[in-house]
Amino acid sequence: MKVQVIYHSLSGCTEKLARGIFEGLKCENKTLHNLADGTPEIDGDVILLGYWVDQAGPCKPIRELAESLSGRHVGLFCTMAFWCDASHGTASLHNGAACVQEKNTVIGGIAVNGHMSQKMIDMFRAMGAGPHSANPASEARWALMKDHPSACEIALAAERFNERIALLEILSQRDIAFPSVAI
Ligand SMILES: Cc1cc2nc3c(=O)[nH]c(=O)nc-3n(C[C@H](O)[C@H](O)[C@H](O)COP(=O)(O)O)c2cc1C
Repeated sequence: MKVQVIYHSLSGCTEKLARGIFEGLKCENKTLHNLADGTPEIDGDVILLGYWVDQAGPCKPIRELAESLSGRHVGLFCTMAFWCDASHGTASLHNGAACVQEKNTVIGGIAVNGHMSQKMIDMFRAMGAGPHSANPASEARWALMKDHPSACEIALAAERFNERIALLEILSQRDIAFPSVAI
């Protein structure tokens, strides 16, 4: 079974997560692709798509790739600056799954926290008063999360996909279709 990990990252969080997942995958036939280097030939049995969250959904390069896939087993992972356990986090993963689930089988997904890039922090600090402008609470959150994604989050993501790939292998041997995960 071949696994392709494909990601896009602006400030390194999704790249860190993608590399960690890739290293943690137990299968031997695996490849890692940064979409910034071009779109790879899609020849994996499993495609793991990694994106940074842009307005509660996948960043454009991953969204476009996701919408072009069909007949694949797809897993999704993303990093985001707002709380990943908020409804915004669930929606951000759901909106990624929505790009692939009609034409593919979703094997699972995970949304984890990244850090807010310095460029974004500077932008929020420069804003006038408003819902997104920097405030003491957001400043504290950004400082606390500066090292995310954490080793635990990366390990959990790798475990999730290892488990789903193992299940896919078991079901394939028994000629049973993987029941798509409704994210
Ligand atoms: C244009 C833009 C839009 C973003 N929109 C969201 C968002 O809707 N929700 C969120 O939690 N984070 C949002 N973020 C923050 C990034 O998703 C987050 O910092 C992510 O971890 C960055 O990943 P990267 O380092 O791989 O680029 C946005 C960032 C940018 C640049």
